[in-house]
Amino acid sequence: MLGFKNHYLSIMLSKRQFLKSLFFSAALPLKIRRERLLKKLPPSWTTEAFDAYWLKIRSDYKLKTEYINLENGYFNMMSQPVMDAYFNDMRKVNLEASCYMRTVQFENKQKTKERLATLFGCSPNELIITRNTTESLDTIISGLNWNPGEEAIMAEQDYGSMLDMFKQNAKKYQIVNKIVSIPLNPKSDEEIVELYEKAITSRTRLLMICHMINSTGHILPVKKICDMAHEKGVEVMIDGAHAVAQFDFKISDLNCDYYGSSLHKWLGAPLGAGILYVNKDKIKNIWPLYGELGFGENDIKKLNHTGTHPVATDLAINHAIDYHNAIGIKRKEERLGYLQSYWTTKVRKIKNIIINTPAELKRSCAIANVGIKGIRPSELANILLKKYKIWTVAIDNANVQGVRITPSIYTTIDELDKLIAALKEIAAR
Ligand SMILES: Cc1ncc(COP(=O)(O)O)c(C=O)c1O
Repeated sequence: MLGFKNHYLSIMLSKRQFLKSLFFSAALPLKIRRERLLKKLPPSWTTEAFDAYWLKIRSDYKLKTEYINLENGYFNMMSQPVMDAYFNDMRKVNLEASCYMRTVQFENKQKTKERLATLFGCSPNELIITRNTTESLDTIISGLNWNPGEEAIMAEQDYGSMLDMFKQNAKKYQIVNKIVSIPLNPKSDEEIVELYEKAITSRTRLLMICHMINSTGHILPVKKICDMAHEKGVEVMIDGAHAVAQFDFKISDLNCDYYGSSLHKWLGAPLGAGILYVNKDKIKNIWPLYGELGFGENDIKKLNHTGTHPVATDLAINHAIDYHNAIGIKRKEERLGYLQSYWTTKVRKIKNIIINTPAELKRSCAIANVGIKGIRPSELANILLKKYKIWTVAIDNANVQGVRITPSIYTTIDELDKLIAALKEIAAR
């Protein structure tokens, strides 16, 4: 096994060779590159360099041989170099024990936060490291000083825990929740913007939107929604559980007020790592969930007091960032989008197969959802696992009945070919 730093260097070096082979196409926008990739590898892409690079990445992962894991949306496992470094962090923290906790704990967390802020494009003074998206978004939903009768707008495709938190707040603070439903194949961004716009009234205070809908992989035009809402004086909170480190964007470009995400999904950090972004002008409006009077009302650290927590995770996030950066977000986004488009284009037109993910490339990346007429999602997931050894998750909710397919950067085309063959066989029954 190479040393930790050498290992990243070797990924970066092979990335450089890989990029060299892409010389002419690398300057093209991602969407066009993916379109070209789907049609046929262009001359400047050598298949060997392309495959070799991603097989090298795959070799960094320890995978079960009993099944093909196409459910990386819940938890995207750590690569072995990240996990080895994480174990070393745990050993260090355990050895230094309370001395670590009483000396460098917060300084180290701050350094990690600064790297995350650079990576995701915001000020460190607007970011905290949380345990997950749930903690991040619930901190906002429950931390706002709601007045009875105020309204919040959300979609039925939003994540259940956040919808539950709004329902709880409706009881606790007598707020009113308005629910919209997002079409699977919108004709334009404006159609979605209008959907939210029409739900806004003079009592609307907050809009919750998903950056990527978890059940379908549908990417929403979040910046346009934020711009529209702000014009009407409404704040926007984005659920970015699946967006961060899956595709390229900066939080500062979205014009949102609040943004929450989990780092154990697409950054490949250990379980129990997330972020919360709060626009600097909005921090004072949020009450901490756990009592904390040691910081000023404009200091985001007031929202970060959760008691003693697994601090080795704060350190391990750095290794996940290193691994992620060694690949590069553009390359990662392109690969993930390609993997999804590869299998969906091959089955989209097949009789009885329903793809519950927009066909337009800009509206999706790694995640897609597939249903088969006449087969319940749980049954389909069961058949895929029992007969074809493919691990997925059944989704049976708001306008979506199917299984969610989530490849990771270690997924191979060969694995997707097995999925395609399985779907064709099941659909032909
Ligand atoms: C859209 C969305 N929001 C929030 C969450 C909650 O994430 P976590 O359990 O990491 O808090 C998930 C989890 O899959 C999700 O898909």
